[in-house]
Amino acid sequence: MHPLNGKLFTAKEVAVLHDIICNRRDVRGNRFLDSPVEDNVLQKLLDAAFHAPSVGFSQPWEFVLIKDPWVKQQVKESFIIENEKAVPVFDKDKQSTYIRMKLEGIIEAPLNIAVFYKPSSGPVLGQTSMEEAGLYSVVCAIQNMWLMARALNLGVGWVSILDAEKVKRIVNAPEHNKLVAYLCVGYTDGFYTQPELELLQWEKRKAAEATVFYDSY
Ligand SMILES: Cc1cc2nc3c(=O)[nH]c(=O)nc-3n(C[C@H](O)[C@H](O)[C@H](O)COP(=O)(O)O)c2cc1C
Repeated sequence: MHPLNGKLFTAKEVAVLHDIICNRRDVRGNRFLDSPVEDNVLQKLLDAAFHAPSVGFSQPWEFVLIKDPWVKQQVKESFIIENEKAVPVFDKDKQSTYIRMKLEGIIEAPLNIAVFYKPSSGPVLGQTSMEEAGLYSVVCAIQNMWLMARALNLGVGWVSILDAEKVKRIVNAPEHNKLVAYLCVGYTDGFYTQPELELLQWEKRKAAEATVFYDSY
C-alpha cells in the first residue's frame, strides 16, 4: 500500500481558500491595466491548470497564449459580430442595459488565452459513457487558473460571445480541437466585491434552497 501522506490543511488555510473562491470575479476591459503578466506568474496559472482533475487523467487541454495585437484584433471582430447578434435575443427592456455592458477585454488585457479541448485518439477511462467528461475536465483546468489568478490579484475574464470556428481559424487550431474558453488576463485597477451582473441588476445570486435537493427532485 502507498502511505496516505497527503497534506492536511488548517482552518486558516480553509478560510483563505474560501476568500479566494468568494472574491474571484470576471474582469472585463474597463478594469485591465497595461502592465504585462510576468512569465513566472503565467507559469503559476498554467501549473494550476495542469493540476486540475481530468477524466481518466487524460489532461485533454491545450492553451494558446496570445499577445499579438493582430490576433487579438481578429478575435475582437468576432466578438463585435456575435455581440450584435445577441442584443435582440433579450427582452426589449433589457436591451439598453445589454448594449451598455462591457462584456470582454480582448484588446485591453495584455494576455489572452484560448483554451482548447483536444479529444483523445484512443478510449479514455471514465469517458466511455459521457463523452462530455472530456470538456468538463478542461473547464476544471480553467477554474483552477481563474482561482490561482485571483490569489495572485490578477484579473481573468471569460469571453464566450465569439464564433468558436472563427477563433479556431485565427489561431490555426487543429480540426478536432474544440474551443472551450477565451480568457482575457491581466492586472486590474481593482476587483468588485460582487458580480458585475448583480451590481447592474441583470441577475441575482440564487438562494441555496432553489438549487439543492435531497435524495430526489
Ligand atoms: C462559461 C462562461 C462564459 C462566460 N462568458 C462571458 C462573456 O462572454 N462575457 C462576459 O462579460 N462574461 C462572461 N462570463 C462571466 C460571467 O458573466 C460571470 O462569471 C458571472 O456574471 C458571475 O460573476 P463573477 O464571475 O464576477 O462572480 C462567463 C462565465 C462563464 C463561466
